[in-house]
Amino acid sequence: MAVCSIIGYKGNSYAAPLLVESLKKMEYRGYDSVGIATIENGNILVKKGVGKVAQVSKTLDLQNMPGQIGIGHTRWATHGGITDTNAHPHEGCSSEIAVVHNGIVENYKELKKDLIASGHSFKSETDSEVIAHLLEEEYSQLHDKVQAIVQVCNKLDGAYAFVAVFGDSTICGSRYDEPLIIGLPDNGYFISSDVLGFLQYTDKAIFLDNKDIVVITGENLSLYDSSGKAVSRSITQVAWELGAADKGIYAHHTLKEIHEQKKTVLKGMIQNEEDLTRFCDILLNAKSIYITGSGTSYHCALLAKHIFAKLAKVRVEPVISSEFQYVLDFIDKDSVILAISQSGETADVLNSVKHAKELGAKILSIVNISTSSLARISDSFLTVNCGPEIGVAATKSFTGQLAVFYTVIDKLCNSAIGINSKRQAIESAIELLLSTEEQTIRIADLLKDIRDIYILGKSLHFPIALEGALKIKELTYIHAEGIAAGEIKHGPLALIDNNSIVIVINPRDNTYDDVLSNAHEIKSRGATLIGISNQSEEVYDHFIKLPNFDSILYPLVEIIPLQLLAYHLALKKNADPDYPRNLAKSVTVK
Ligand code: AGP
Repeated sequence: MAVCSIIGYKGNSYAAPLLVESLKKMEYRGYDSVGIATIENGNILVKKGVGKVAQVSKTLDLQNMPGQIGIGHTRWATHGGITDTNAHPHEGCSSEIAVVHNGIVENYKELKKDLIASGHSFKSETDSEVIAHLLEEEYSQLHDKVQAIVQVCNKLDGAYAFVAVFGDSTICGSRYDEPLIIGLPDNGYFISSDVLGFLQYTDKAIFLDNKDIVVITGENLSLYDSSGKAVSRSITQVAWELGAADKGIYAHHTLKEIHEQKKTVLKGMIQNEEDLTRFCDILLNAKSIYITGSGTSYHCALLAKHIFAKLAKVRVEPVISSEFQYVLDFIDKDSVILAISQSGETADVLNSVKHAKELGAKILSIVNISTSSLARISDSFLTVNCGPEIGVAATKSFTGQLAVFYTVIDKLCNSAIGINSKRQAIESAIELLLSTEEQTIRIADLLKDIRDIYILGKSLHFPIALEGALKIKELTYIHAEGIAAGEIKHGPLALIDNNSIVIVINPRDNTYDDVLSNAHEIKSRGATLIGISNQSEEVYDHFIKLPNFDSILYPLVEIIPLQLLAYHLALKKNADPDYPRNLAKSVTVK
């Protein structure tokens, strides 16, 4: 499977309506297909189909499935096409066990071959169906659910989280490197990929450790370790407010999250002094520092390199997490890995950190979810505090991550930025940029039929050009490319003609004149230029005004017009801004 959402419920209420609501809350994890299994009078009823939760729930009347126990799933396909048969839940041959799964069973082909040899027959093309048949096989031999799950987990290669229901109304599950959390409302239990799956019913949760096993029979919840020995785990109070995941007055989560930045950026600057000191001490004692992340979080790492160099005179090396293995030879006990991740569950980031930890490195992280796997394996972590980010495209988490970095670097260089004295200026700058929305809508109208967009930026502004291009790619499906301004004449200029659209990020700082000459070079090839700056120039055909602002802080705010542009372009292209095709919010597979 891949990056999916799984949910299980057992309690005094009808399970189906609760499961449907939970799946809606977690749909950003995967939205190719949906399915639910409930149990009544020992019979397992499964309904599943291709499409999003609201649509499939209506078509298949999922809400009215019987029973007070059930499991549910939304899929982001990797193994097997997007079909009803490949949707979860998957059953064993006897239909006495149904399973939902998140992760990848890397050895599913061998396991499937052995199971077929011992008489099992498979319906789907997925790797996940193997777990249903394996559990059925082990249970038929051992007649002990805990030991059967122990055997299943020992046979699975790869990261996984799965929840299974048995005809006798038992619900159980286990995890390895994929999140699985128990929610503790009154009168029942949830088992979920994400706290958002049960946050509207309770903020009390148990975060399972790797290879923990949970079994709920009758009204009892029991936990076991990977050998089947009974264990207890602490209950955590989840920090998020109930309504934080709702759209409120906004048409989409993405637009709400863009507008939330006038508050969330300031929240990112509020860090617990003790945690901040510990974080900085570990940085100061490092002989080498690598900053790693994926996607938007990697763009934050690239920008951090510039700010560390410029202000703290500290050399850090940004490394894309999926490319991390090439630096492993240089990592040792004097190295620090600073990992950035909104979700704290991105497999490429977790793998990088695990390898580095094995080599003795210290792990620091900046996360938005303080209970995430990355936070839990870090020696010290700081939180972005921007609340749940539902829109698949990272927006407020990016500026929040930057705000944390500015706060860390300000501490490292004895308030050289004076970030706290700039809170007001930052808030009004963001307010002003959010008010350019009308303008970005007009520019979106100009760009809706364009095939390629190029975004230029130099030094601090280059990572912002990359981030702006990523937002346009993932929200509008238009090819967009972020280019280091000085590089344009070393090749990309060949792409430019009078149909080309080029966005130039060029606020007044020490890069201004160079980038302005690049803009003229491009203009002379007939391109249409959109300038984002605090100084207008004739060379721009369209202009988005940035406020006059502390030049070192421009990256914190200059991304906002590009976020708004990508959002409104998506609307103009009838793309769903919250659930872009083929993507998922946290990529928990390699
Ligand atoms: C960004 O808009 C994308 N959703 C994606 O690139 C994302 O930044 C990446 O998958 C990393 O996610 P993380 O910050 O949760 O680790």
